[in-house]
Amino acid sequence: MTPGLFITLEGGDGSGKSTQAALLGEWLQALGRTVVRTREPGGTEVGVEIREIVLHHRGEVSPRAEALLYAADRAQHIATKVRPALARGEVVIQDRYLDSSVAYQGAGRVLGAPEVRDLSLWAAEGLLPHLTLLLDLDETAARTRLNAANKRFDRLEAEKNEFHARVRAAFLELAAAEPERFLVLDASLPVDELAALIRARVAALLGLSLD
Ligand code: TYD
Repeated sequence: MTPGLFITLEGGDGSGKSTQAALLGEWLQALGRTVVRTREPGGTEVGVEIREIVLHHRGEVSPRAEALLYAADRAQHIATKVRPALARGEVVIQDRYLDSSVAYQGAGRVLGAPEVRDLSLWAAEGLLPHLTLLLDLDETAARTRLNAANKRFDRLEAEKNEFHARVRAAFLELAAAEPERFLVLDASLPVDELAALIRARVAALLGLSLD
């Protein structure tokens, strides 16, 4: 076991992961913890280059090539950034991790969920988060949020609603299979309410009292 705390955030595009990651990080820092905020894909220099390919490559990327690119990003990130931080006793708050691969590459595409999970676990030498926050949001609501933000869609965001519905179902299945690792949150709740629910769970993990 590592002395640090590894927390990941998962959910569809536009579910508010980054906002909650930032709020949680600020709260933990105010409590005196050293916090590393990071993300996949793109949490390292190598990862930034891989991210460019997986999100913005114009031609076709085959399903296995895509899964391997995310796994390569993950291997580099976990080995060079996440494990060292955990070994120093820090809190790592990470946008997306292996559950995203299972949901997007496994259930969303033609590959099977178990093989994608095994590939990720191989890449990360078996590292699992202490806590995974799943920000669950109806795909139509997520789409409306992304449209409102007027963001340019990346390759995966541009997929059809039906794809995003499959991804959402896959996340919920993963959470149901590992209830002790996951906290499933209704991402349509107000930001402050979500943040309070998250703080309560993290406080329990750290053995803190919230008063
Ligand atoms: P990003 O902009 O980082 O996330 P978000 O959309 O949550 O702001 O985009 C990452 C995209 O990559 C997102 O559409 C999900 C996808 N993805 C995978 O398909 N597999 C993976 O293993 C990871 C980590 C992400």
